[in-house]
Amino acid sequence: MMDCPTSIEVVVALEATEELVAAFARLIPQLSSSAAPLTQDALAEIIAAPSNTVLLARDRDNGGKIVGSLTLVMFRIPTAVRAWIEDVIVDSNVRGRGIGEALTREALRLATERGARTIDLTSRRSREAAHRLYEKAGFTVRDSSVYRYVPFVSDKAGNHAIDSDALRAPRSRGAARARHRGR
Ligand SMILES: CC(C)(COP(=O)(O)OP(=O)(O)OC[C@H]1O[C@@H](n2cnc3c(N)ncnc32)[C@H](O)[C@@H]1OP(=O)(O)O)[C@@H](O)C(=O)NCCC(=O)NCCS
Repeated sequence: MMDCPTSIEVVVALEATEELVAAFARLIPQLSSSAAPLTQDALAEIIAAPSNTVLLARDRDNGGKIVGSLTLVMFRIPTAVRAWIEDVIVDSNVRGRGIGEALTREALRLATERGARTIDLTSRRSREAAHRLYEKAGFTVRDSSVYRYVPFVSDKAGNHAIDSDALRAPRSRGAARARHRGR
């Protein structure tokens, strides 16, 4: 296991402070170019949700600056208590120092302690560093398909609207098949 610099501490975010809003404004674009900026209210809602644990990596040598984050999501469903790891981001100028690994291992520790039977995540194939990190931390690739339904359609100007066509119940199985063939 890579030794995380001793100056790094991983803590749970407890409050949507302005410092945290600024940190996410810096970090989120490094993960997603399409995510909307996170407002203080939205962040407060995320932190307060009982299913969420937002972890922060702080660099003590740099005034406690927030240099990374990971969100652990836990929920109970009929089969078990499950956990998901989401939005793992480390600031580009401090990557390769074990911070991503430290965040991931802390999430695994918390999820295990809270009774998760499985801990899942997804990662695009192109994210090589992320794949190395997760495999190192003990994750294995599942033989399972990941599906996504996007309820919005976008026009060329980037405006989003609900795809009401997709939500309309097909009149019959034949109609559903015909619609599917038409796509
Ligand atoms: C993925 C990410 C979180 C890793 O953070 P990090 O702090 O650099 O990771 P660590 O230093 O803990 O490194 C863990 C492992 O990943 C490997 N790794 C780090 N950077 C790498 C790179 N550029 N290419 C290949 N492997 C890399 C490390 O080599 C290390 O394994 P090693 O000990 O065998 O060398 C970071 O690169 C990042 O924020 N990327 C952009 C957002 C992203 O892709 N998030 C993941 C979404 S699924």
